[in-house]
Amino acid sequence: MAKMWKGVTSGNTDALADDFNSSIHFDNRMYREDITGSMAHAKMLAKQDIISKENAEKIIDGLQGILKDIDEGILSFDPACEDIHMFVEEILTERIGEAGKMLHTARSRNDQVALDIRMYLKNRTEQIQSLIKELVLVIKEKAEEYQDVIMPGYTHMQRAQPILFAHHILAYAMMLMRDLDRLSDMKKRMNVSPIGACALAGTTYNTDRDYEAELLGFDSVTMNSIDSVSDRDSCLEMMSDLSILMMHLSRFSEELILWSSWEFRFVSLSDAYTTGSSIMPQKRNPDMAELVRGKTGRVYGDMMSLFTAMKGLPLAYNKDMQEDKEAVFDSVDTVLMCMPVFTGMIQTMQVNADAMRKAAERGFINATDLADYLVGKGMPFRSAYKISGEIVALCMQEDQVLETLPLKTYQEYSALFAEDLYEAINLQNCVSKRISKGGTGPQSVQEQIAWIEEKLK
Ligand code: ARG
Repeated sequence: MAKMWKGVTSGNTDALADDFNSSIHFDNRMYREDITGSMAHAKMLAKQDIISKENAEKIIDGLQGILKDIDEGILSFDPACEDIHMFVEEILTERIGEAGKMLHTARSRNDQVALDIRMYLKNRTEQIQSLIKELVLVIKEKAEEYQDVIMPGYTHMQRAQPILFAHHILAYAMMLMRDLDRLSDMKKRMNVSPIGACALAGTTYNTDRDYEAELLGFDSVTMNSIDSVSDRDSCLEMMSDLSILMMHLSRFSEELILWSSWEFRFVSLSDAYTTGSSIMPQKRNPDMAELVRGKTGRVYGDMMSLFTAMKGLPLAYNKDMQEDKEAVFDSVDTVLMCMPVFTGMIQTMQVNADAMRKAAERGFINATDLADYLVGKGMPFRSAYKISGEIVALCMQEDQVLETLPLKTYQEYSALFAEDLYEAINLQNCVSKRISKGGTGPQSVQEQIAWIEEKLK
């Protein structure tokens, strides 16, 4: 097929080179954005008297037909066309003749591709945001369902202090709330139209970029034509945000994997999200959580591949930039695939309050409270810390816990100990006494839930 850009070159490219060069097999997914953009472009050209109203109408009708035919599967993408932009223009010209050749006035594929990718990502961002909201709500519901469940909180993977299970999972809800915010923030920067920058220098035609941008739902237009066609920040920002999101899901996955092991037994994942082994009949494998954790690496990789591709590029457009799409599409696809599975897995997960409680009863996670008790009786914290440590060491030696050690023994360490110490180290009380804002106390947990509800309204 003769190349549209056949001019100073013969247009006779090697078949392998053609394949190598072509992006239609992956950029065809932007056909809707490409066609919508072209319709707005034709409208603008007519409004500015750059093309006639009749020709604009022909173009728009033609584009509408192409969109419909692709949607209905009547028209399939021609792999011989280099990319989606060429394909649409070629079919349009085939169908409506001369008028089709006018569409590419005052634009270039360089600003066109920059436009298409922004429009595409904007839509996907909204889709991802609504999936994040669903997950946050499911976490919130789990937190409400298991409001009173106590578990050990960990630092360094060592039992540290008693916390509410609800408080622990709400930590993930907070991360996801920031992910939502980050994406909204990015969307603002992405919502600026590059179309009209043309190849790199702008155009001699009397175009109206603001009008075209408005037709396409952009807030404003880019200020520098060179930047407009050479910038891939939106793709990079998108992948950075998605990497952070995946990192959050991956950490949560890691905990679910641990928690669903026999060593922990804190949760049991539903059969719907668990697989068996082909050889070991007893196995319940948390494959979905493992895959989310695994796919996080892939999203990081996508992000790194584009950062690396971009780092040495001179201004303005270079073909290297065609590498943006597979990376960002893969990240978006991966996130779109992970989110609903992850949400379903959380929604159907059972929490084993007894196992959490048992774990909380071992490991001296109320030792801080024992020290705080002495502080309450007037001892400086550092001295109280030392005594409590000695008592813990004794318990370990004698295979006891703080709750079972007799008052008499306590009093050998300090005369300040009295019967009420047992109340002070009672796990339930340890949790409810953590009244600081954002702490694990039940009131704080309620506040967190209310805050999320308010924010998501
Ligand atoms: N397929 C190209 C891309 O994805 C579109 C822009 C091509 N521009 C050009 N001058 N070759 O980046």
